[in-house]
Amino acid sequence: MTRPAILMPRPMLPGVIAALEDRFELHRLWERPDEDAYLAEIGRRIRGMAVSTLAGRIDESWFDRLPALEVVANFGVGYDNVDVKAAAARGIVVTNTPGVLDEEVADLTLGLLLATVRRIPQADRYLRAGRWTDAPFPLSPTLRGRRVGILGLGAIGKAVARRLEAFGTTVAYHGRSRQEDVAYDYHGSPVALAAACDVLIILVPGGSKTRHLVDGDVLRALGPNGILINVARGSVVDQQALIAALRDGTILSAGLDVFENEPHVPPELSANPDVVLLPHIGSASQATRAAMGGLVVDNLVAWFETGRAITPVAE
Ligand code: DGY
Repeated sequence: MTRPAILMPRPMLPGVIAALEDRFELHRLWERPDEDAYLAEIGRRIRGMAVSTLAGRIDESWFDRLPALEVVANFGVGYDNVDVKAAAARGIVVTNTPGVLDEEVADLTLGLLLATVRRIPQADRYLRAGRWTDAPFPLSPTLRGRRVGILGLGAIGKAVARRLEAFGTTVAYHGRSRQEDVAYDYHGSPVALAAACDVLIILVPGGSKTRHLVDGDVLRALGPNGILINVARGSVVDQQALIAALRDGTILSAGLDVFENEPHVPPELSANPDVVLLPHIGSASQATRAAMGGLVVDNLVAWFETGRAITPVAE
C-alpha cells in the first residue's frame, strides 16, 4: 500500500522527522536547492504537512500548489501562522499541540516575570562587568504584594495564576467572558485590567482578533510602576507603542519572549537595558518540545488511519 506523502517545509526535531519517515513518504523541502521546481514536481501528491513557525505563513499560496492536501499538523499550540479559514474553505483540517506545553510555558512566564521584576539579567551583566566591587547592585522592585493581571485565562493562564498565588500576589484577569468557576477578579476590558494591576501578563492567542489588544491606552493604564510580560504572540502588543511607553517612562519595564516580526527585534528594545528579552522559548525544553512533536506525528497518523485528527482547531 502506498504511504501518504507528507511535506515538511522547514526542519523539525530529528525525532519528528524519524517518526514521520517510519510511517509516511516524507518530503524535506528545505533540502531541495530549487524548492519551487520540487513542489511543481511532487505537489499534487502531498496529502499532509508538518509545519512549525519557521515555515512562515501557511496559506493559499501553499494550498494552491498542494491540491490533494488534507491536513496541516502545526507544531505549537498557537496556530496564527496558519490561515485556518482558507484551509477550512478547502476542507483541509488543521491541528495544533494543546495541553502538552501549559506547565512549561507557565514556568517560563514566572521565570521571565521574576527576571524582569528583580532585574536578574542586569545583575548578571553587572557582575560580569566587574562592577560588584565598585558598588552594590541597585535595589530592585519586588513581586510580593503586587497585583498581577492575566490577559487570557486559558489553560496556560490558569497554570500561571496557580504559581502566582505561591508568590503572594493578587491575581485578576480579563478574557472573552467571566469564568464562573474562577475566584480571581474579572475586569471587562484590557484597559480596566491594566488600571487595576501593577503587572500585566499577556496569554491570549495571536491572530487578527487580538492584534494590538495591548496598545498605548492599556500601557498608560498600567502606569509608571507597571511591568508588561508577553509570552503569547508579539502581534498582541503594539510594539511601537510599547517602545514609546518604555522610553517615556509610561511603564517601568517589560519582559518579552515574543515580538511582532520574529526573529527581528527592534534596536530600541535590544538596546534598552531595562527590558528582558528572550528568543521565543516559552515551550522550549527538551521534554516539552518532544511531546509537541509527538502530537504532530500522532495527529497525522490518526488522520490517515481513522479520518479523524486528535486535536483539530476551529477557526
Ligand atoms: C506555541 O506552542 O504556540 C509556542 O509559542 C511555540 O510556537
